[in-house]
Amino acid sequence: MDNRRIGIFDSGLGGLTVMKELMALLPNESIVYFGDTGRIPYGTKSEETVLKYTRSDISFLNTFPLKAIVAACGTASSIALPKLSGQYDIPLLGVTKAASRRAAQVTKNGRVGVIGTTGTVRSGAYSAFIKEENPAIETVSVACPMFVPLVEYGYAEKEAAKMIAKDYLQTIMDSGADTLILGCTHYPLLRKVIQEVVGDSVSLINPGECVAQDIYEQLAKDDMLSDAPEKDQYQFYVSDVPAEFVRLGSMFLERPISGLVSRIDIEKYN
Ligand code: DGL
Repeated sequence: MDNRRIGIFDSGLGGLTVMKELMALLPNESIVYFGDTGRIPYGTKSEETVLKYTRSDISFLNTFPLKAIVAACGTASSIALPKLSGQYDIPLLGVTKAASRRAAQVTKNGRVGVIGTTGTVRSGAYSAFIKEENPAIETVSVACPMFVPLVEYGYAEKEAAKMIAKDYLQTIMDSGADTLILGCTHYPLLRKVIQEVVGDSVSLINPGECVAQDIYEQLAKDDMLSDAPEKDQYQFYVSDVPAEFVRLGSMFLERPISGLVSRIDIEKYN
């Protein structure tokens, strides 16, 4: 048993969709969340910048006594995590690897689609991880940069989202992929529209669910699950004013953000 917290970070509030999965699967765990709201977006930034930001996000989280860190951000997981693995004393898990493993198990025809930010797609991390699982699987990846603002501005269920989704997802449909990875924190909130566009025969993979399962299995195997939550079970930190995070965050977490949200100066950590 180990009652230390799990740390989780993202470029902003999208990672709350991943936190939601951790909370559902691991109700006894205490979690500290960092959202880099002052430096979002990561998806359009260069590799060096995403690597630098990811390092500092992890340095900040490491000021807490943690037992594991989860990179909820699709972009950080794809660009930075392959370069940082093995550099920390505690396990560092990312959504990209977890979702790749699941997709390789789920596909029946050996064709997997991936959608994510420009940075995630450019990194090629999904196709590399999937190839490690099974070299015979073909991956087709498409960047969908407009999905993030559509979600944040409340357009996820509107006709505009469907029109844009049809356009973005045409290449995936043409490829014949039977499995599609929702490779960005915001995309689970577009799940309904995406499923409508690609059709019910395509299995959608939510990386948040996959990484929650991975961390559960890893903690259970090492006898490191918590037996009871700590006081202030969920703590939130952001690098810009908390107001917007609190307002929009409840949409991502699908419950009010009841824990404490504090602002920190992320530039102090590197
Ligand atoms: N959280 C990011 C991701 O999952 C999306 C927002 C951003 O570009 O920072 O890639």
